[in-house]
Amino acid sequence: MKRPVIGILTWREGKRFAEPAYFRRLIRAGQALGGTVFLFSPQDVSPSGRQVRGFVPDGRSWRARMFPRPDVVIDRYRYTPTAAFRQYVAFRRTNGFQYANNRLANKWNVHKVLWRDARMHRWLPEAMLYSHAHLRSMLARHSLLYLKPLNGTGGRGIVRLEKTAEGYRLLGRNKDRTKVSALIRRIPALLRWIDRWKSEKMIIQQGLRLDLVPKRSVDMRLLIQKDGNGCWSITGAGMRVGGERSATANLHGGGKAVPAQAFLRARFGEQRAREIIRDCEQLAYQTAETIEQHFGRMIELGLDIGIDVDGRAWLIEVNPKPGREIFRELGTPQVYREAIRKPIQYALHLVRQQSGGERQAARAAL
Ligand SMILES: Nc1ncnc2c1ncn2[C@@H]1O[C@H](COP(=O)(O)OP(=O)(O)O)[C@@H](O)[C@H]1O
Ligand SMILES: [Mg+2]
Repeated sequence: MKRPVIGILTWREGKRFAEPAYFRRLIRAGQALGGTVFLFSPQDVSPSGRQVRGFVPDGRSWRARMFPRPDVVIDRYRYTPTAAFRQYVAFRRTNGFQYANNRLANKWNVHKVLWRDARMHRWLPEAMLYSHAHLRSMLARHSLLYLKPLNGTGGRGIVRLEKTAEGYRLLGRNKDRTKVSALIRRIPALLRWIDRWKSEKMIIQQGLRLDLVPKRSVDMRLLIQKDGNGCWSITGAGMRVGGERSATANLHGGGKAVPAQAFLRARFGEQRAREIIRDCEQLAYQTAETIEQHFGRMIELGLDIGIDVDGRAWLIEVNPKPGREIFRELGTPQVYREAIRKPIQYALHLVRQQSGGERQAARAAL
């Protein structure tokens, strides 16, 4: 059988790529597993689609050469508010590659899709699109809210809003992750503050009490991936402990990674910690199933899970193109390596299925 060809679709400008360190490891893992693996961008596909200019590591730099059309493409193109991203979206709609993973919608559409599945309800914080009326009604039901841009990532543009005896306390981050805070007495002034501050459509989400460590936001990042048999499996999870006076726990916003089991055991005791972890695992498998039913095939999902002070698990966000650096920070190199190998193993599984299907079709035609 010929060597399977796997293309990784990503952003590039010249020889600058979005996640060079990860891609070097991914390509190395792919070669070790018997594949031909390269990076490419929409502009690298020949008009006929039969050839692709691909990039592979070359010492400390990257080397380009022409490759045959990939058998499977892993889409790793991450959102940026640029013309290049719009070009990528158009590219994905029109070319006929076999993708290992589909795209996901924005935070609000993902919420709506998950909410339609009753099996997800127990893990979903209430959410609405931002408007003055919706903010008033959410404030009437919850003393803590999170406002988040529909297409935000990395904790950018998020504000935490708490109703207190002194007034409405706001704490969050701008688009460039600089911190913002305010204390506002009355609702009309609060609405003006938010309207001035926001730069795009936002979702209002029920706020969770995640101060498992006093004065800090703590959440869990769980990585669920397809394996070499095409089955979902949980690769690992870690807790992220946010900085002091930070509304978010994202690692890029100053969060620190700590092992999940040990952390939860220390906070909730042996028995309860086990129950919580089992609940998170159920949440992960159910989320993967519900997401795939609607959005089609996925290769992996990074789930942001809030575990509130009562030990209840909530799904905060679903990331279709998650990082895996948390496992490096946790000091679990074997989990980190597995997190890199699995997408390749799944892509190879898809190629095998595809060529098996072709052989069957050829036999049937005889
Ligand atoms: N409803 C919420 N309640 C409590 N904390 C939240 C809530 N939503 C978000 N956070 C905190 O903010 C972080 C970033 O929010 P998230 O929805 O994951 O957006 P992003 O796409 O920027 O990562 C979360 O990881 C969590 O620490
Ligand atoms: Mg997140």
